[in-house]
Amino acid sequence: MTAQLIDGAALARQKIADLKQRVAALQAKGVTPGLATVLVGDDPASRVYIRNKARACAEAGVNSIHHDLLATASEQDVLDLIERLDNDPKVHGIIVQLPLPRHLDAQCVSQSVAYEKDVDGFSWHNLGALMENAPGIVPCTPRATMALLEHAKISIEGRHAVVVGRSVIVGKPAALLLINAGATVTVCNSRTPDLGAMTRQADILVVATGRANLITRDMVKPGAAVIDVGINRLHNGKLAGDVVFDEVKEVAGWITPVPGGVGPMTVAMLVENTVNAAARLVSQQ
Ligand code: GUN
Repeated sequence: MTAQLIDGAALARQKIADLKQRVAALQAKGVTPGLATVLVGDDPASRVYIRNKARACAEAGVNSIHHDLLATASEQDVLDLIERLDNDPKVHGIIVQLPLPRHLDAQCVSQSVAYEKDVDGFSWHNLGALMENAPGIVPCTPRATMALLEHAKISIEGRHAVVVGRSVIVGKPAALLLINAGATVTVCNSRTPDLGAMTRQADILVVATGRANLITRDMVKPGAAVIDVGINRLHNGKLAGDVVFDEVKEVAGWITPVPGGVGPMTVAMLVENTVNAAARLVSQQ
């Protein structure tokens, strides 16, 4: 059996085209959605992600404003910048690209973003709302995961979903979204003993560990939907996910490629979170 490919790049293009229309409608009311991006230091991968986010914003008509801080910036420097952005009426969304240099407290920095502008969905307010299945801003990569499943018309209610990875950026919020959608959810990590015994139970397998080649063919139930969140740079310079794509596509029912799967859709979700944040402001005026 050969899996159906879930084309995240194509779906992201469609999403951005839809958002462009919403942005035009907001502009007609005098508001251009604005996203502020903050990069501390010069991590090359982070710079690529920031560039992709700025490009997607431009395509949708969202104004993106980038702020670079030196790797040696103090925590107060970062907090001062975020306070300025929190108070800037032209800014509807703020992201601080992670990881931060080690001398900075990432939790303290992330929690200083006003929750109304927290388009990463990392604030305790928004994460708490997700826990309650209440309205709030949902983290982008888990939203992308759900959007890809929905696009492929994969039913979630009553299915067994296994999430490999327990980060606040992906694993934990993805598990909550799947729980809220009615799945039975098992959360594992790369060190779970006999990981394959767990992943083989998955109708829906979401992998977000940052370990290339972790999931092999024998670890996947035939016909399962496999969402590969990993983006790993191999020694040869190529990108690979956490799933051995060429093997797993022979047993899975659906699979996302890397690159071209979750990544572009995550960026589209960030743009959507920003447009939603701007639209909320307009509705309150
Ligand atoms: N680093 C890796 N993924 C993310 C993300 O979704 N948001 C931010 N801010 N940093 C990241």
